Amino acid sequence: MIAIEASVLSADYLRLGEQAREAQVAGVDGIQVDIMDGRFVPNITFGQGMVRALRSAVSLMLDIHLMIVEPEHYLEEFVEEGADRLFVHYEACTHLHRTLGHIRELGAEAGLAINPATPASVLEEVLDMADIIQVMTVNPGFGGQQFIRSQLDKISRIREMLEKRGLALPIAVDGGVDTTTAPLIVSAGATVLVAGSSIYNDRASVAQNVAALRESIEA
Ligand code: DX5
Repeated sequence: MIAIEASVLSADYLRLGEQAREAQVAGVDGIQVDIMDGRFVPNITFGQGMVRALRSAVSLMLDIHLMIVEPEHYLEEFVEEGADRLFVHYEACTHLHRTLGHIRELGAEAGLAINPATPASVLEEVLDMADIIQVMTVNPGFGGQQFIRSQLDKISRIREMLEKRGLALPIAVDGGVDTTTAPLIVSAGATVLVAGSSIYNDRASVAQNVAALRESIEA
């Protein structure tokens, strides 16, 4: 079963709760909220208050993607605001093993995200500490960027790494996911598609865009 998550980064910020609900009604499996601090990535987006607001708007899996430095300082707050899952970046964690364990102690699922330049090998020592791996297929910071095709091979190598360990961890892919790249991503072994600008745009409705994504991977 392939899960689709709507990233609200490209949604209409004047109607964020409504847009999240639209994605829920359209049948997505989760909402991913990109928290950006302007240091780990060039952009600044939302904070704890926005997570609290979105928690009240949808009943779906609320994924918080922490694209921030020193995420270990904010884990408790985001879980308290209603996060079901927290993604931290390998590149932002000095003590990654401890941080992943702390997320789990707080009762949330531990997500580990890696940037395009980060090799799959960095996952080896912490695969048992993560509940999901997220492969960034753009350099994080903005929506609507070009999918980096070289990451397809990395996705496959991570899937092989997991299979060798007898681990069936989900692999999420985030960045440039659309009806063209989605089938390639799924064939490479990913099981969660995080899509922003291909769901929230002025070309079609949220429902139409989600349906088109689903069709692209069912075909
Ligand atoms: C990193 C963000 C984006 C966002 C999805 O920049 O994490 O990847 O979620 O953006 P799209 O789907 O528009 O590439």
